[in-house]
Amino acid sequence: MTAKLKINNTYYKKADNLESLNMFKGQLYETIVTTQSDESVKNAAPIGVICKDSNQIVIHLDNCVHTHLNILENGELIVNIIKDPLIFTYSTIGELDEEYFEEFNSFPMIKNTIEFFKAHVIQIREKKRENDYNEGIGHIVTCEVEDIYISEYNEIIPLNRAMNAIIESLVYYCRFDHKYKDKQDMIWIHMKELNRVCHKVGNESEKKSMKIIMDEMRENHDYLD
Ligand SMILES: Cc1cc2nc3c(=O)[nH]c(=O)nc-3n(C[C@H](O)[C@H](O)[C@H](O)COP(=O)(O)O)c2cc1C
Repeated sequence: MTAKLKINNTYYKKADNLESLNMFKGQLYETIVTTQSDESVKNAAPIGVICKDSNQIVIHLDNCVHTHLNILENGELIVNIIKDPLIFTYSTIGELDEEYFEEFNSFPMIKNTIEFFKAHVIQIREKKRENDYNEGIGHIVTCEVEDIYISEYNEIIPLNRAMNAIIESLVYYCRFDHKYKDKQDMIWIHMKELNRVCHKVGNESEKKSMKIIMDEMRENHDYLD
């Protein structure tokens, strides 16, 4: 019989490898990584997860602060596969509220996540930085995947451009003042176009997320129209 796990009214079944989550070698997926400090302060942030093989992933820690420090501190993380635009937005722009968290074996995860897995660090290498976070030191981190769980959620969602527009806008938001500092004019024109698309085709959560991103951009850069 397949082992089942119930967390906050969501049932999960155990899986053996990343392919079961439709995550394949060599591809990078946008996820929410949850971590905690040694003092049990929890954190969530969007992180790109690269599949190295069926049970190993690689992440680049160079653009985040808490996730980076927590992973260096204790080497543990949960990778949450979710589609909620507001969770991506809140965890990029500020801190995710307590109400969004759950626990798996006393470790923070995102409530009602569609799929998740626990992982631990097996190798850390330094990398060239993209900014001055963490005293200018970035890391390439290889992790071994432990427990993998898939929820019974299997809804098929037709393609829609809004979520992609939000993910692209959040990446621009994160890189605007360093990687893209010499092409801010061009990036801002693109962000306004992504904003237009999202408001045309998106649902209420997506439109709300995009509004938060654009408001935050204008508040942080008073020269933007
Ligand atoms: C879609 C997306 C993917 C991201 N991927 C990474 C990544 O792979 N590595 C990284 O260091 N930061 C990445 N970031 C940036 C962090 O998520 C962002 O700086 C976040 O605010 C860090 O939160 P923290 O300081 O609480 O860890 C990404 C952001 C977005 C929107």
